[in-house]
Amino acid sequence: FFCSQASTDGFLACLTASVPEQLLFTRSSPSFASVLASSVRNRRFLTQATVRPLCVVTATNASHVQAAVVCGRQHGVRLRVRSGGHDYEGLSYRSARPETFFVVDLAGLRSVRVSLGIPREGAPATAWVESGATLGELYHAIGKASDRLAFPAGLCPTVGVGGHLSGGGFGMLLRKHGLAVDHVVDATMVDAEGRVLDRDAMGQDVFWAIRGGGGGGSFGIVLSWRVKLVAVPPTVTAFTIPRSVEQGAVDILTKWQEVAPALPDDLFVRVLVQRQVAKFQALYLGTCDALLPVMRRRFPELGVNRTHCKEMTWLQSVPYVYLGSGATVEDILNRTDPVDTTSSKATSDYVRHAIARDVWEEIFATWLARPDAGLMILDPYGGHMARVPEAATPFPHRAGVLYNVQYINFWGGGGGDGAAQTAWVRDVYAFMEPHVSKNPREAYVNYRDLDLGENVVVGNVTSYEAGKVWGEKYYSKGNFRRLAMAKRQIDPDDYFRNEQSIPPLDADD
Ligand code: FDA
Repeated sequence: FFCSQASTDGFLACLTASVPEQLLFTRSSPSFASVLASSVRNRRFLTQATVRPLCVVTATNASHVQAAVVCGRQHGVRLRVRSGGHDYEGLSYRSARPETFFVVDLAGLRSVRVSLGIPREGAPATAWVESGATLGELYHAIGKASDRLAFPAGLCPTVGVGGHLSGGGFGMLLRKHGLAVDHVVDATMVDAEGRVLDRDAMGQDVFWAIRGGGGGGSFGIVLSWRVKLVAVPPTVTAFTIPRSVEQGAVDILTKWQEVAPALPDDLFVRVLVQRQVAKFQALYLGTCDALLPVMRRRFPELGVNRTHCKEMTWLQSVPYVYLGSGATVEDILNRTDPVDTTSSKATSDYVRHAIARDVWEEIFATWLARPDAGLMILDPYGGHMARVPEAATPFPHRAGVLYNVQYINFWGGGGGDGAAQTAWVRDVYAFMEPHVSKNPREAYVNYRDLDLGENVVVGNVTSYEAGKVWGEKYYSKGNFRRLAMAKRQIDPDDYFRNEQSIPPLDADD
């Protein structure tokens, strides 16, 4: 994709005509670097070698986004859209290849409007949330409106709503209520023509596609989402129990694989496996009194007792689980995260058959014992997830999945180029192949990994055949093909394109 100096100048002139000067940051602006870095969540992409955008447009209303798309298309400059900036490969603000592009940053579009509905008339509680809001801002607005309402999405409060909902979105309410995208009932999006479309105007195929299949801004720029809220009890209970290998972690973890996905839907017990410890972290939608008999009956090996229970409201559980016991509900409004100062590399798997005990023994003894070892995060599925058909949304990892595995490693602060940590993630991923889902080996798009494959452009359009390499891992069960057909409908010229965007496919192909 080539962009001459003349078209660059014309592009900037076009933007200046429609976007106020104070919202436009070109490379010569004194604040360019800080605006660009403002929501970069992975320091790996803040180096001299990173391909930087031509400018950043910090949109504060829909017309700025429309103007950005229209000017970009007119002058042949592609764009990247950024909501919370958490993309694991930084695709919302950098290009992995040398190309001229600009960034539309939505952090200024972050209102949340909660409507409590009229339960006795069957009108559900909903919220309109703009893409630039963080999950923390959404949760805070809901929890302040009612302690009986919640939204099922990710754990990290600084994750942006726009990117999160573009890829699915799951957290501690997953087993009871499924994914964030399972609750999206409407959305507004700026398409490649610069039009603002709602659910009816974009049509059912595109509305299906943006709810989890848009990871990477493939279809347009989603401005806002209308989501249905879910009911929670006034008291929920959290617990965290670490078990070392000496304390039986291998046996407990082996058992956990079968138990956790089959527990009552109200109970979510995930595991963080690091060094020689498996840390079991749980949220139960109810009181400690109700939780204890369930744990004693279904998972006595973990040894949960009253001293482990922490009762609180659902809103309070958000900072408690992610930020620690000292954090308050106001802390989830903070848009900067301690993790921001580090670099990371991650990838993911799905496990459909429990991994044998001796394999877990080997994982602890070799992989987790290495000096540069990272962390494995195991999130159990089952419950509501298993009851949603694979074709209901683009996210196909539903019935039959025992749990999701995220492999992640961090470096930074003390220097180092991350080579050893990155190699650990790649090597452990290779080791795990016989033990995880196959044909395809499934992965979660929100844990984006360019090692799974990158697009190839043929004749100025992204190749569907090449895209299948990575695409069918994220979107198995025929969903990738369906996404490609939706892409053809809404963006046949493939304007919204990046290293892992959905390629357009003609239904006859
Ligand atoms: P960002 O702005 O980087 O966007 C991500 C992708 O979506 C980019 O390709 C971008 O172009 C595109 N995009 C963004 N806004 C868009 C819009 N408005 N319209 C169209 N496309 C858009 N996931 C999870 O399910 N559960 C969890 O608990 C967590 N926890 C977590 C913690 C931390 C620290 C990180 C870094 C990540 C997670 N995630 C997660 C993964 C997270 O859901 C994923 O990275 C999201 O894509 C992040 O969304 P942002 O808006 O922050 O990212």
